[in-house]
Amino acid sequence: MTPLPLGFDAPPETLFDEKAIAVRVKELGAEIAGKRRGSDLTVVSISNGATIFAADLVRAIDLPLRLDSLSARSYDGTESSGEVVFTPHLKLDPRGRNILLVDDILDTGRTLRRVVEYLKDAGAESVETCVMLDKPARRVVGMEADFVGFEIPDVFVVGYGLDYDEYFRNLPYIGTLPGTASIG
Ligand code: XMP
Repeated sequence: MTPLPLGFDAPPETLFDEKAIAVRVKELGAEIAGKRRGSDLTVVSISNGATIFAADLVRAIDLPLRLDSLSARSYDGTESSGEVVFTPHLKLDPRGRNILLVDDILDTGRTLRRVVEYLKDAGAESVETCVMLDKPARRVVGMEADFVGFEIPDVFVVGYGLDYDEYFRNLPYIGTLPGTASIG
């Protein structure tokens, strides 16, 4: 276990261990490739949170694909700010492309909805979405993902790319921080 950030005396409690994550990511990759059989895909991951998930997911998708990323942020600590700070700096042109948008977690739904709108406005042929985690209890806007790794209750999670104030992204499993139900 890597040393804990200042202020933490116990590691996050395991919700999904490395093995469960690896199995589910392989299944998701096969599901996506099966549905999109034969078509060319552009995977867009939302950084920073989706970076680690996307790295594993693209290697599980047996299709010709291109990989890009953009940056979006709506959380401060364990609190959703309600505002999506979004930097649409794609390197690849989304026009006429079939996009798979990948994020770490679907929470209020604001981030994914905002980025889907942006990609459609930018001329994407189609936009499908894939998230590692879904917290349906927290939804405030109408948004569902096409592919979901695991559904979880309203707890704040870290690891496998998910952070608490930028820490814990390198945790190889997904865990909960005691006493940090999401607020906002
Ligand atoms: P929205 O509310 O826009 O949120 O659907 C999506 C983004 O919020 C962050 N988020 C979390 N980050 N643990 C985290 O580390 C959580 O439990 C959590 N819930 C939401 C995340 O960045 C996601 O992309």
